[in-house]
Amino acid sequence: MSAAVKTSAALAPITDIASLRGDFPALRQRVHGHPLAYLDSAASSQCPQAVIDAIARQQSLDHANVHRGVHQLSERATLAYESARERVRDYINAASEHEIVFTRGTTESINLVCSSLGGRLLSSGDEVLITWMEHHSNIVPWQMLCEHVGARLVPVPITDAGELDLEAFDRLLTDRTRIVAFVHVSNALGTVNPARELIAKAHAAGAVVVVDGAQAMPHKRIDVRDLDCDFYAFSGHKMFGPTGIGVLYGKERLLDTMPPWQGGGEMILTVDFDRTTFNALPYKFEAGTPNIAGAVGLGAAVDYLSRIDFPALEAHESALLEHATERVAEIDGVRIVGTAAEKASVLSFVIDGIHAHDVGTIVDGAGVAVRTGHHCAMPVMDRFGVPATARASFALYNNEDDVDQLIVGLRQAVELFR
Ligand code: ALA
Repeated sequence: MSAAVKTSAALAPITDIASLRGDFPALRQRVHGHPLAYLDSAASSQCPQAVIDAIARQQSLDHANVHRGVHQLSERATLAYESARERVRDYINAASEHEIVFTRGTTESINLVCSSLGGRLLSSGDEVLITWMEHHSNIVPWQMLCEHVGARLVPVPITDAGELDLEAFDRLLTDRTRIVAFVHVSNALGTVNPARELIAKAHAAGAVVVVDGAQAMPHKRIDVRDLDCDFYAFSGHKMFGPTGIGVLYGKERLLDTMPPWQGGGEMILTVDFDRTTFNALPYKFEAGTPNIAGAVGLGAAVDYLSRIDFPALEAHESALLEHATERVAEIDGVRIVGTAAEKASVLSFVIDGIHAHDVGTIVDGAGVAVRTGHHCAMPVMDRFGVPATARASFALYNNEDDVDQLIVGLRQAVELFR
């Protein structure tokens, strides 16, 4: 359905990134008596008021099921849902709305490809190439599939800086490689992978490419046709939208050949006890009542991001990362984990003699939210010989005051534990 879409993309792009902070009500609160310094956006970013309002409006006035009713509310809900799909299509420059499948998030998007296409592509002896810096969601589904069909999961190693070893990538990409699945931006290290280059190489080797774009979406303007990826997976809640909604972008010619992966309502055309026929794209992959308000919220998040000047955003975030890296490195006993030349604003570190969880707890007392643990990337922790790191992740709404507050918290941790 081609819904009438009115986006704000025609308005002048916002270059004053610092002005955006005021759009996020969560950042106005105090935590443990301190202003909140929210440095955990890689786990989940905050929503701007525009997203909260869009969800509230949907739930207050337009809540009904989609594609099922002839009544006014159902029509409005359907229009809002399909309009969100069109906004996402436009935002990532996909060729058609058929290529935008709503899912619960990145994990479900990857599992969809794995379940529906993976088994058709892979046989015994074939290989799936991933990287050592993948999130578990881009390891475990492939590992389960490989075990099932007798294929091999091949991880490309990473360097001490946390960069992909490109020579190893070239060596391990062979005529046995059927699928290449890699993360665009590492959640644990911040490394930005050279996606276009990897995709072109994988295609030259005849492989299908799946990109985990969850951490790239809040930092980069993604154009799936420019990347030429076969699949690109991302989550609403990492890009200023709500939880429980995400997208699988897939090239239509591939999605067309893929069978549904879940059965139920919405994904069918006809059902009788002998045979079911399936709905058109993208609906054949959206069994059951979808997360309608989530999609509407994601559409509003895309509108919000559409207004932003991305070169200005990248400059803001890279200056903040540089400043934070310098300040954190000054703390006695700190080791930064992930020092790639191309990094998004993610800063993982360990402090000698203090467990990352203790660091997280102490800085929380200073009003600073960071994530601690293995970040669902245990192979990365193994590679760097640590059980866990503390991770400060920055988004468009962060500023140097947040970094100062983090440093205060870290100094308290060092004083307490030394
Ligand atoms: N994948 C999310 C993170 O990096 C949860 O924190």
